[in-house]
Amino acid sequence: MINSVYKTRMRTNLCGEINKEFAGKEVTLSGWVGRRRDHGKLIFLDLRDFSGIVQLVLNPNINKIPYTIAKDVRSEYVIKISGKVTNRSKDTINPSIPTGEVEIVVKDIKIFSKAKTPPFLLEDRNKVEENTRLKYRYIDLRTRQMQENIRLRHNVTDATRKYFNSKGFLEIETPIIAKSTPEGARDFLVPSRMNPGKFYALPQSPQLFKQILMFSGFDRCYQIARCFRDEDLRADRQPEFTQIDMEMTFVEADDVMEIMEGLFSHIFKEVFNEKIKLPFKRIRWKDSMEMYGTDKPDLRFDLPIKDISSLFRNSEIKIFKDVLKNNGCIKSIVVSDYLDFTRKELDHLVEMARKCGSGGLLWIKVDENMNLQSPISKFLSNTEKEGLIKALSLKEKNLLLIVADKFITASQTLSMIRKHLACKLKLIREDEFNFVWVYDFPLFEWDENEKRITPVHHPFTKPDENTAGYLDSEPLKVNSMAYDIVLNGEEIGGGSIRINDVNLQKKVFKILKLDEKKIRENFGFFIRALDYGAPPHGGIAIGMDRLIMLMAKVESIREVIAFPKTQSAICMLTDSPSSVTDEQLKEVSINIIEEDRE
Ligand code: AMO
Repeated sequence: MINSVYKTRMRTNLCGEINKEFAGKEVTLSGWVGRRRDHGKLIFLDLRDFSGIVQLVLNPNINKIPYTIAKDVRSEYVIKISGKVTNRSKDTINPSIPTGEVEIVVKDIKIFSKAKTPPFLLEDRNKVEENTRLKYRYIDLRTRQMQENIRLRHNVTDATRKYFNSKGFLEIETPIIAKSTPEGARDFLVPSRMNPGKFYALPQSPQLFKQILMFSGFDRCYQIARCFRDEDLRADRQPEFTQIDMEMTFVEADDVMEIMEGLFSHIFKEVFNEKIKLPFKRIRWKDSMEMYGTDKPDLRFDLPIKDISSLFRNSEIKIFKDVLKNNGCIKSIVVSDYLDFTRKELDHLVEMARKCGSGGLLWIKVDENMNLQSPISKFLSNTEKEGLIKALSLKEKNLLLIVADKFITASQTLSMIRKHLACKLKLIREDEFNFVWVYDFPLFEWDENEKRITPVHHPFTKPDENTAGYLDSEPLKVNSMAYDIVLNGEEIGGGSIRINDVNLQKKVFKILKLDEKKIRENFGFFIRALDYGAPPHGGIAIGMDRLIMLMAKVESIREVIAFPKTQSAICMLTDSPSSVTDEQLKEVSINIIEEDRE
C-alpha cells in the first residue's frame, strides 16, 4: 500500500494515496497547505504534495495544541502533520478527488515554513497573466497542470533513453561552449576571458559534433541536447530548447526513419499506453505543397487544395489571365455546404487572404440547380463552369474558394484558409496523433531578402542522386536527402543523410557563396575531419519541447518547460538578461558603448 520509494523520515505516505483502505491507520504527511476553512469549532486544511490533496481536520476537543497552531496556518505554508485517517460521513464525501472519502484527524502539526499571501491561487492559474506565472514560477509549477506537464517531459526523456539504449546507441554529450558555425539562426556568443577578443558560440544544435562522432567510429549516438538560437520567438520557439538528437553510420534514409518510428511508437506506448499506427504516412515535399499549401500538413482533416489553372487557360477574367501569364497558378478548396457561411464570413475569408499577401479570394456557390453563383459568375464561360463541376466533382450546396497568385502565395494563403475552415467546421480529429514524413525537399531555396541561395535544411545535407547532376548548372533544381517529421501540422523534427565526401561538401559551400576564407574560418576543422575517412551517415533531431507540447495538448512550449523565457527572451523569474559589473566586462575585454547601456 505505502509507496515505499517516497517514504522518508518526514512522512509515511503521500497525500494523494490516502483512501478508505487507510481508515483507522496513523499516518505522517508533509506538504503545502491549500485551502483553509475555519468553521469556528473545526478547522479544515487541504494538504498537498505532488501526488494530490487530502483533507485535514483539526478539532480542539480532540487535540487543542494542533488546533491552536492551525489557526495561524495559511495557504502555501509548508507543514508536517500526524494523525488518524477516518472515513468521512456520507454527506461530506468529495467525489471529485481520489482521497475524498476520508480525512485525517490531526494529532500533531509542525510548521516547516511560513508563506506570504501568494500572488495567485493555484486554482486560478488559468486566469492569471502568463508573466505573473513566470515571475512566480515556483508557485505556478505547484499546480496540477504544470506538475503533469513536467512529469510527462520526464517520462518522454526516460522512454527515449531506454529505447535508444536498447538499439545500441551511445549517449554522448557534445560541447556547450563551442565554435560559431552558422546553421541558419543567429548565435548566442560567449566572450573568452583567456583569449581576449575571441568568442565561443552556444550550439544551435550538435550537428557537426554528432557527424564527427560518426567519423570517429561510434556507429550510432544520441543526445537529449540543449540548443540555443537567437531568433524571434513564437509559441513554438524558445531561445534555448531541447532536441532529441541522433546520428547513425552506414544508413539510408529509410533506416533512420524506421528507427524513429520505433522511438515514437515506444514513447506513446510507455507514456500513454497507446499504440500508434506504423509505418507513418510519407508525402513528397512537392505534393504536400500542392495539396496542403505547406510542408507541415495537418492530416487530421481532409480539405485538399486543388490546382485548377488548366481550366482557365483561355479565361476572360483579368486576374486569372494576368496570374497565368506571370507563371502563377489558380488554386481552390471545396467546402461541402455554403449555408455554413454568411456573407460576413465570406468577407472575412477575403480579408484573411489579403493579409497573407494575396490579391484576394474568390468564392463560388453551387446552388440547388447546379448553377454557379458568384460575383464573377457572369465572366465564367460555360466550358469553364462545366470544367469546374467535373474537375472538382462539385455537388449542390458546395462552396468553392479560389486564390489566383504566385505558387507560394496561393499555397500559403489556402493553407491558412484550410486550417481556419477546419477549426470553424470542427473537422479536426482532436484526439488523433497524426504523424507524417515529408521528404524530397529541394536542397536550396532563393532568399529574396539576401538575394542569394540558402540551404532549405543545412549545408551538410546530401543532394539526392537523381538530381545532383544540376548542382553546377541549376542548383535550385536539386533535391535533397532530407526528411521532416510533422505531427498534427507542427514540424517536430528534421534530419537527412549527410555529405561524406569532402569535395561535394566544398562544392555545396561554394554554391552557398561562402568564400574560401569563410569556409576555412568557420568549417576548416570539419573539412579536415571529412578528409580522414568519413563513413556514409545520417540522422535527425526532434524538437522535444514541441513533441511534448503536442502530447500534453497545450498551446505553447512554455507550458512544458520548467523555466522558459518570454516572447521577448526574458526570464521573468531571475530577471535575465541583466547588466554585469564593469569588472566582469573588463575581464572579458568588452567595452559597452555608453548609449547602449540602460
Ligand atoms: P532543425 O533546425 O530543423 O534541425 O531543428 C530540429 C527541430 O528542433 C525544433 N526547433 C525548435 N524548438 C523550439 N524552439 C526553437 N527555437 C527551435 N528551433 C528548432 C523543431 C525542429 O524541427 N541539426 C539539425 C537536425 C539534423 O539534421 O539532424 C537541426 O537542428 O521541432
